[in-house]
Amino acid sequence: MSNIFKRTHMCGDLRLSDEGKSVVLNGWVAKQRSLGGLIFVDIRDKSGITQIVINENAKDELIKIAKSLRSEFVIGVKGIVRERNSKNTAIDTGDIEIVADDIIIYSKAETPPIYIKDDDNASDSLRLKYRYLDLRKNKMQNNLSTRHKVCKIARDYFDDNNFTEVETPYLIKPTPEGARDYLVPSRIKQGSFYALPQSPQMYKQLLMIGGTDRYYQIVKCFRDEDLRADRQPEFTQIDLEMSFVDQDEVIKIQEGFLKKLMKEIKGIELQLPLPRLSWQEAMVRFGSDKPDTRFGSELVDLSEELKDTSFKVFSDNLMNGGDIRGICIPNGAKEFSRKKIDKLTLEAKQYGAKGIVWIKKEEGKFNSSVNKFFDEKELEILMNKCAKGAEINPIPMKEDSTSDRRAEDGDIVFICSDKPKIVYDSLGFLRRRANELLGRVDQNKFNFLWVVDFPMFEINDDGNISAMHHPFTKPKIDEISQIDENDILSLKADAYDIVLNGVELGGGSIRIHDSIMQAKMFDILGLSEEECEEKFGFLINALKYGTPPHAGLAYGLDRMVMLLLGEDSIREVIAFPKNQNAEEPVSNAPAHSSSEQLNELGLELIKND
Ligand code: AMO
Repeated sequence: MSNIFKRTHMCGDLRLSDEGKSVVLNGWVAKQRSLGGLIFVDIRDKSGITQIVINENAKDELIKIAKSLRSEFVIGVKGIVRERNSKNTAIDTGDIEIVADDIIIYSKAETPPIYIKDDDNASDSLRLKYRYLDLRKNKMQNNLSTRHKVCKIARDYFDDNNFTEVETPYLIKPTPEGARDYLVPSRIKQGSFYALPQSPQMYKQLLMIGGTDRYYQIVKCFRDEDLRADRQPEFTQIDLEMSFVDQDEVIKIQEGFLKKLMKEIKGIELQLPLPRLSWQEAMVRFGSDKPDTRFGSELVDLSEELKDTSFKVFSDNLMNGGDIRGICIPNGAKEFSRKKIDKLTLEAKQYGAKGIVWIKKEEGKFNSSVNKFFDEKELEILMNKCAKGAEINPIPMKEDSTSDRRAEDGDIVFICSDKPKIVYDSLGFLRRRANELLGRVDQNKFNFLWVVDFPMFEINDDGNISAMHHPFTKPKIDEISQIDENDILSLKADAYDIVLNGVELGGGSIRIHDSIMQAKMFDILGLSEEECEEKFGFLINALKYGTPPHAGLAYGLDRMVMLLLGEDSIREVIAFPKNQNAEEPVSNAPAHSSSEQLNELGLELIKND
C-alpha cells in the first residue's frame, strides 16, 4: 500500500471557485502557528502557498501531528476548501483555506540554515552551499522555469526552421576560443589529455562538411577564465551553424528567434530588423563593442577643439597620436561631488586612464578640475561640444543627426585623454556607471542591436596578435591576395555580435571554407606548419573534401535568461553554479584525488608547499 497522499492540486492552484471541494496537497511547511484553539499551517510547493487550518474539534491524532509540524517538514494534507474570513491579497490562493481532515508527515527537517523567502538576506556563500534549499524559493523556481521555456522556444523555433539538434563530444582536442582549457587526463593513453570544449566550434563546422545543412545544440561549454557576474567556468550556449547562407540570412533567422522569444517570455513585440552598428561606430560613440543604448552620454571627440591647447597633458597626448574625448551627463553635477568623482576616477583607472578631467556648469558658471589651464570660454566650448552627445541618438547614427544641444546648468562632463583604447574603455565605463548611479537605466527596455564589421585581429598585451572572434572566421575579402600583411590590423572580419542592454548575448561569423585561406590565417597568427598540423590538421584536411560555404552563431543561454529576468548575475539562472573560486559549493568540487586514481592515470602531484 502506498503511503503517499495522491495529489489533486498544486499549492498555488486553488481559488474561491473550488470552495467545497475535497482536495489533497503535498509540499513543505512554510509556517505553522497556533491562534486560540486553531492551528494554521502554510503549505508550499513550486507553484505557491495555501493556508491549512486544523480545527479545535479535529481528531486528537490530527491535532498532535499539526502541533509537531516545523518549517520545511514535507507533508501531505487532505481536506475541504472553504472561503477564508480574513483574505490575504498577497498570495493567489488568499481567498481560501483548507480545513484539514488528515495530515501525513513524509519527512522531518532540521532547522534550515537559510530562510526560504525571496528576500532572505543569506550570504551568497550560504545560498550556494545550501543551494537545494535556496532553490525552494519562489524566485529560483521561476528562474528555472523561465530557463526551461527559453530552451523550449529555441528547440521549437529551430526545429521549425529545419535545424537538427546534434550532440558533439565533450572529450576533445582544444578549441581555440581564447580562454584556458579544462584538461581531462586519459587513463588509456597516459600522458595525453582531452580538453573540455570551450565551444563546439570545430565540430559544428565538420557537421556542415558532413552535410547536416543546419545544426543547433543547447550545449555546455567550459572555459577556465576569471569569473564575473556574466561569466561562469561552465556555461551553456544555444549553438548554431548553417550552410549556404550569408550574413543577412543568418541575422534574419536569428531575428525571427529573438522576436518569438521576446513575445513569448516578455509579451513584447520586437521591431525588426534590429539596428546594426559597425564595430568602429560602436567604439567611437559608446566606447564599447557592446553598447548599452538605453541612455545617451555618447563619447564626443574633442581633439579639434584642443588641437592648440597649452595644457601639456592634452597636447603631449595629441602629439603622440592619442585621443581626447568627453561625455556629458545631463543634470549630473549635483550628484557628482568631489568625493564621488574621486571614487569614479579610481574605478576608471582600472581601465588604464591616468586621470579624468571634469567640468560642471552651475548657475551659469563653469567650474572644473583644470581651472588653472582653461578659461571660462574654453570650458564652455568643451562642454557645449560634449553636450551634443548627451541625449539618446538614433542607432545607427543618421548622417544629419548632429544634435544642437548645448551645455545646460547642472550638466557635468568627464574628459579622458590617452591612447584610443584607454579612452574608449574608460569613458565607456564612466558612461555606464554614471547613468547607473543616477538611476537612468530603464529596466523595462530591451535594446537589441547587431555589432558588425569587427576587426579580424587584435594586439594582445604581450604584443602578439590574435583573432578577435576566432581563427575560423572569414576575413571580409574575396581573395587571399587582398590581405595586406603590412597592415593586418585593418583587415575586417565577417563577424557579428548580438548585444542586449550592454551585454554580449551572442556572437558568430561567416567561416572560412577554403583550406588554403584557413592555413593562411593560422600562419598570420604565428602558428608554425607543424603546430598547425598537430592542432588543426584534421579541420584543414576536412575542408579539402568539398565544404559548403557556412556560417553560424552561439548565444550565451545563461546571459539570455539573466537579462530576460532582470537578474544581475548568471548564477541566479543556473541551478548549481560555481562560486568566485570556481568551486561547486554543494559537493565541494574540485577535490583531491586518491593516489590510486592518480597512479591509474599516470599522474604525480608536484607539491608546492
Ligand atoms: P563566443 O566565444 O563569443 O563564441 O561565445 C558565444 C557566447 O557565449 C557566451 N559566453 C559565456 N557565457 C557565460 N560564461 C562564459 N564564460 C562565457 N563565454 C562566452 C556569451 C557569448 O556571446 N564558437 C563561437 C560562436 C560562433 O562563432 O558560432 C563562440 O563560442 O554570451
